[in-house]
This record gives sequence, C-alpha cells and structure tokens, in this order.
Amino acid sequence: MAIQLKTREQIAKLREANLIVADVLDALEDAAAPGMSTWELDAIAAKRLKQLKGESAFLGYRGYPAVLCTSVNNVVVHGIPRKDVVLKDGDLLAIDFGAFKDGWCGDSARTIPIGKISSKARALMEATRDSLDAAIARCVQGARLGDIGSAVQSHVEARGFSVVRQFVGHGIGRQMHEPPHVPNYGEAGKGNRLSVGLVLAIEPMVNAGTPDVIIEDDGWTAITKDGSLSAHFEHSVAITEEGPLVLSRS
Ligand code: MF3
Ligand code: CO
Repeated sequence: MAIQLKTREQIAKLREANLIVADVLDALEDAAAPGMSTWELDAIAAKRLKQLKGESAFLGYRGYPAVLCTSVNNVVVHGIPRKDVVLKDGDLLAIDFGAFKDGWCGDSARTIPIGKISSKARALMEATRDSLDAAIARCVQGARLGDIGSAVQSHVEARGFSVVRQFVGHGIGRQMHEPPHVPNYGEAGKGNRLSVGLVLAIEPMVNAGTPDVIIEDDGWTAITKDGSLSAHFEHSVAITEEGPLVLSRS
C-alpha cells in the first residue's frame, strides 16, 4: 500500500476519532490509582468508548484480547490488562488506546505516574514526553522522516536513556497501521519528505537501560531485556499548510 495523503475533510474525521481517544485516556488518567487492576482500567475504557460511540481499534487486532494496552514499569508496550496486575504506589503506567469513528482511526498513548514515583522514573517519563514534542515540532511540510527520528533520539540520548528500535510509529488513516514506518531514531535530512496531508502516529518508546526488548510467551507483552523501566507516549499528528496539527491532543 502506498502512502495515502489525507484531505482537510479526512483530517477532520481523524480528529473526531482522536478526540474520542483523548477523552478515554483522560478518563483513565483520572481513574488510575494504587489498588486498581489494569483489567479494571480496560473496563473503564470500554465503557467510555461505548458512550462516545466509537469502536476499539485494538480488540481483535491480530487476536489482541483487550481494548487497552497497559504497560507497567519494565513493560515497554502491549501489556495486556489483567485482574492480577494491581497498580501500586510508585508504578510507571503507560496506557495506549486506539479507536475508530466513522471508519477513521485514532491512536494515542501516555505514561502516567501512580502515586509518588522515583525521580529516575519521572525523568524517564518527561524525557519521553518531551522527545515526542520535539518530533512533533519537526512535522512541517518539506522536512523528512529522519528529522522526526533524529529529534526523538537526540533528545532521549542526551538525557542518558535509550530508544527502542524493535517497534516504530506508523502512518494512520482508515487503518491503524499504514505506511510509512516512523522510527524513533535516524538521521536528520534523510528519508521521505513530509507532505501536507500526511498523518503519522509518532510513538517514542524509551528505556532507562539498554534498548533491547523481549516478547513474553503471551506473544504480546514487550519487556525490557535488562529489567529497566520504560516509558511510551504517542500522538497522531497531521502535517498541514499551517504546520503540525496534533489530532489526539484535546
Ligand atoms: N499504539 C499501538 C500501535 O500502534 C498499539 C497497538 S496494540 C494492538 O501499534 F493490540 F492493537 F496491537
Ligand atoms: Co500506534
């Protein structure tokens, strides 16, 4: 499949889907607290999604069994919500949620502190969030894909953290995953040019230790090989004549 550039009208539809995603993530952020299981968070997300008349982008995707990914501490991405994963004070929780509205997809993730987190965890969380903002700032007509990866990588590595290579961001539209791949590493000035109408889900995954990831036996849960903490943020972003438009920010 070739890269599909979106019209203004199509970007407006993507905005609607992403506003649902942002609403659900807000609800989860309000609800998440020590003592709550990640399974309960999944139920909250499913309920809110129904109220907003969206459909899950994750449930059933390649057999994924939930509407939400909940990745705690050393889990990088794709943590499956479970009754026996109960949040505790000091946890670093990444929540990743995707939804369809009228056939258009929204996808976004945030990492949030549960109770009082360590200064190391906070630094990791903030570096990951800020690396995404640095990447978003590069989402202008005429820039290149490598500018995005380079912005994430340089921000993260300057703070002593490492960028996961095994998973990348993606184009997004009528499907959750469209071309191109959007790596969180690379060289400025290299790669495809960014055109008006390109919509990307940019999603830095950042480890406190080495970048290596292993997948657990459930086929989904990605954890850091060295057991170190990991953080993940994601926004769906449109390149427009007026510059970057962050579709998943409310
Ligand atoms: N935001 C992730 C992605 O873009 C979440 C996918 S989880 C899955 O790949 F269950 F849908 F695979
Ligand atoms: Co994504």
